[in-house]
Amino acid sequence: MRRILVTSALPYANGHIHIGHLVEYLQTDIWVRFQKLRDNRCIYICADDTHGTAIMIRAREEGIGEEELIAKMQKAHVDDFARFDIQFDNYGSTHSSENRELCAEIWASMRAAGLVSQREVSQLFDPTAGTFLADRFVKGTCPKCGAADQYGDSCDQCGAHYSAADLIDATSTLTGAKPEVRTADHLFINIEKLHEFLDRWTKGDEHLQPEIANYLAGHFLHEPLRNWDVSRPAPYFGFEIPDSPGNYWYVWFDAPIGYMASTRQWCDTHGEEFDDWWASDRTEIHHFIGKDITYFHTLFWPAMLETSRYQLPTKIHIHGFLTVNGEKMSKSKGTFVCASTYLEHLDPAYLRYYYASKLTNRVDDLDLNLDEFVARVNSDMVGNVVNLASRTAKFATATGLSEKYPDDGGLFDQAAKDGQAIAEAYESCDFARAIRQILATADRANQFVEHNAPWKLRNDPDKARQLQDICTVGLNLFRQLAVYLAPVLPRLAEQTGELLGDPIEHWDQSQQPLTGTPVGKFKHMMKRVDRKHLDAMIAASTEREPANESAEPVTDSGQPLAAEPLAETCTIDDFAKVDLRVARVVAAEDVPKANKLLKLTLSLGGQERRTVFAGIKTAYRPEDLIGRLVVCVANLTPRKMKFGTSEGMITAAGPGGKDIFLLYPDEGAKPGQRVH
Ligand code: MSP
Ligand code: ZN
Repeated sequence: MRRILVTSALPYANGHIHIGHLVEYLQTDIWVRFQKLRDNRCIYICADDTHGTAIMIRAREEGIGEEELIAKMQKAHVDDFARFDIQFDNYGSTHSSENRELCAEIWASMRAAGLVSQREVSQLFDPTAGTFLADRFVKGTCPKCGAADQYGDSCDQCGAHYSAADLIDATSTLTGAKPEVRTADHLFINIEKLHEFLDRWTKGDEHLQPEIANYLAGHFLHEPLRNWDVSRPAPYFGFEIPDSPGNYWYVWFDAPIGYMASTRQWCDTHGEEFDDWWASDRTEIHHFIGKDITYFHTLFWPAMLETSRYQLPTKIHIHGFLTVNGEKMSKSKGTFVCASTYLEHLDPAYLRYYYASKLTNRVDDLDLNLDEFVARVNSDMVGNVVNLASRTAKFATATGLSEKYPDDGGLFDQAAKDGQAIAEAYESCDFARAIRQILATADRANQFVEHNAPWKLRNDPDKARQLQDICTVGLNLFRQLAVYLAPVLPRLAEQTGELLGDPIEHWDQSQQPLTGTPVGKFKHMMKRVDRKHLDAMIAASTEREPANESAEPVTDSGQPLAAEPLAETCTIDDFAKVDLRVARVVAAEDVPKANKLLKLTLSLGGQERRTVFAGIKTAYRPEDLIGRLVVCVANLTPRKMKFGTSEGMITAAGPGGKDIFLLYPDEGAKPGQRVH
């Protein structure tokens, strides 16, 4: 019996699970279920990845604390995974005491090995938000081609790469403030000292797929490795570095240690020794990840493990990205489908089966083609496999299975032998090959049933024995398939176990036929996919083009400004929920690419600044607004727009066009005062 620890990458807590993520979690779940079915000791460990700037920003946008955000997200993730039958042995969080302790331990090892050094780093700083800005939180004009509204690292007009400090007229996307260049001390890991080890490890013992080992050799290991910047100055949502107050571990330092922390949690609740799993050469460690996070897992992570007292991974299984109908997932095409949206429309078994039928052990991208999805699910899974049960079970309920396994011309033995090749395909993560072999086995079973046509014998009392024998063969061949498919279709295996009164728990159940046992009442096992439901899912995932670019005059909330009938009555309590505040316009600028939008920076008194996009360009010039008071809805949920996030709304009257009239408080009012 092997002892195997398996992980999937820890999903970021700043977004929901989508069908792209599911490629990985389903791939891993199938592999783990296969190992368990083979009676190996296997645990599947995962957690939410909760630290870093993106989480801080999202929490700020939602107006909640980081801890509240990550708790909410973890609940949503766990729920989505469970509904796809993705079964973790432990699902933890990187924001846990176990993780903090393990980080400190591994950090101490790296210090002791003399790998840590300190150096000053210049970075853009947002004085309003009081935080350093990662490149994607800075926008400005491209220094190369002059295109406006480009991110801090590269220009999507001309493709130039530059440093954020070189952007012209840079602004912080968090507050609209002009960033300053500030310096801070950062801590670095001198990973070059482990170059030789990494050369050896990445090339040896099939830890990596060959194309990955080649990629690392050609892109990283052919020259000295650059020091890895592993700290961030406050404010940062993460763990403060014990021996460097005011500095935090960069999220990618503590994230992989989260694999261990989640395992430790599992050990503590299951009376297991942590070291048996992470510090024993008798345990295999398998990481499943996507290609975008390759070098964190194949260079930094082995370096961290090598330096501490822990075991290196046995294998890192890297998969490609999901495309839909040959293109990147897209919100406007409705192909960026959230797990929860999928579940509103379709059976999770379809996706489990479809992905399995496409997954190989190569790093290639995987395409979800909607026509092929329908065809494979309906003709292969339902037509070829599930129908075997529905065409035989109902004639066997009255009699049960024959006492002696009938002569089937060698079909059962052949299928039992096929189990070997199918198991090898699963083991090597070539699920597409496993499915092809299972379908070939199913074809032979179908020919048998077709040829013997049990439905023709049902009314002939002289043929009762023959009918029972045919159904005994048909159901046993079906049960073999259900065992082979159990890693992919756990519910089908469960239903089959119920039908035949013998739960499917071991791969070896495919090697011995069942005889002389009762057959339950046949219940429908799986429906065909209805194209209508698939289309409805795509429609529900389609995001309209940003409302601010529509033909109608709009406010910044996207609502038309045309004369409207009086709204429904609202109670004083309803109205009290709207937090109207006096605000002063401290900056105003045109959004050149938008027809109606001006970008305003509002002061709500004190340090509090808000960015609000208002659809008033047709009526106001930005320079006329600076310094004026306005009335602002201060507790509106922030809204992401094409040009940035709008953190409120200002009030105006009028039908639109030139006739938009901002509401001005009297000059005696003070910014921040509530409007009653
Ligand atoms: N938090 C990091 C992983 C830390 S592991 C110590 C992260 N999170 S993620 O949520 O962005 O992605 C989680 C996994 O899903 C990654 O392995 C990533 O490659 C995978 N995928 C995310 N989008 C994907 C597709 N569109 N297609 C296939 N896999 C994708 O990265
Ligand atoms: Zn450019």
